Amino acid sequence: MDGSENFVKHNLFAITSAFLTSRSSLRPAPPRHYDVFTAPPPPILGVTWKEVPNLIFEAGICLPRLAGYRHGRLEPRGGRVPIRKDSDLTYADITPKSVYLNRRQLLRAMGIAGVTLAGAKLFERFAYPPATVNAGAKLNVASKSPFSTTEKENTFDDVTHYNNFYEFGTDKSDPSRNAQKFVTSPWTVSVEGEVKKPVKYSVDDVLKLAPLEERIYRHRCVEGWSIVVPWIGYSLNTILKLAEPNEKAKYVAFQSYYDRSQMPWGEHSGIQLPYVEGLRLDEAMHPLTLLCVGMYGETLPNQDGAPVRLVIPWKYGFKSIKSIVKIKLVKGEPTTTWSEYAPREYGFYSNVNPNVDHPRWSQATERRLGEFLRRKTLIFNGYGDQVASLYNGMDLKKYY
Ligand code: MTE
Repeated sequence: MDGSENFVKHNLFAITSAFLTSRSSLRPAPPRHYDVFTAPPPPILGVTWKEVPNLIFEAGICLPRLAGYRHGRLEPRGGRVPIRKDSDLTYADITPKSVYLNRRQLLRAMGIAGVTLAGAKLFERFAYPPATVNAGAKLNVASKSPFSTTEKENTFDDVTHYNNFYEFGTDKSDPSRNAQKFVTSPWTVSVEGEVKKPVKYSVDDVLKLAPLEERIYRHRCVEGWSIVVPWIGYSLNTILKLAEPNEKAKYVAFQSYYDRSQMPWGEHSGIQLPYVEGLRLDEAMHPLTLLCVGMYGETLPNQDGAPVRLVIPWKYGFKSIKSIVKIKLVKGEPTTTWSEYAPREYGFYSNVNPNVDHPRWSQATERRLGEFLRRKTLIFNGYGDQVASLYNGMDLKKYY
């Protein structure tokens, strides 16, 4: 046994207690039925007996997570969008590193590292029962778009429980749980900047600006997973044309809603909020760029970016900004959240490209949620016929 394991053995309770403290703001309190002691025995090494169920509870979270197992699924290779420049985001990124490492050693010392994935799944379900999704309002979809893919759609459950929405937490299962009370009405979206007719729309206005289409798009995350979703909305160019961009407008900048009181998890996310994104004007005007107000026949669930978001199917998912409040036409290339965070890893363009790897993982393949084997990633996510000409003459390795 090495020195660190000895240390862990001798500090088992102290480490566990530090672990529990470190998680207290991020995890729900254990269910009340754990509270079974009316006259609790004295604490041992500062840990009360009442906390024993917590230990079991946390071990059940910790191990599957260390094994890369989240919300009943193994995280695809590539992990998630990192919030540190120097390493993949792991459980360690939201926990002090020393505590994390000790926890690992602690688990080894406890001899439970051999638990099976089936057991892990059980624990995970116990620790994170899937959040129910509030039913959305039905939307009147006028037409099915010819831009739709015929590929098999992912289930509503997949798309609403495996999300990236850092304002509501960094785990895939966090947004479905934490965004449930997100207030999305009243809501306004402004179109401003280099335009002749700046305007502020209510969401009701947005819903009426053009007939709603259903567009079944492939959606590929930079992390290496993909989904197929029947989104609802209309081309972003509708709302841009109404504002009449002037000749100085060359780019479009987007901003998400951010309110610390509703999104306290945002402060632990490691990224700068409000979330901001941007497109070149011709990308924003491209008919495939969707101003999205719903999916699966209904308004957007909160965790998927209610009440209005972008969906840009040929770009990595992080370009598809959620819960938009501001659309600003600007002269120069706008700042974007992820490229500001790690410019060498996340470029402004971020077109899906199997030939340009992320500095820390390959982009050649992806895992479709619900499938086991990885599939080949297509250039521009399979939308090359429609969009490749936007990048004629550009070196896509340079403008990644
Ligand atoms: N928009 C905001 N405001 N905040 C976010 O964290 N995450 C992005 C993008 N839009 C994000 C966001 C990322 S990384 C991805 S992959 C997609 O949303 C995920 O969309 P989905 O959860 O609907 O699949």
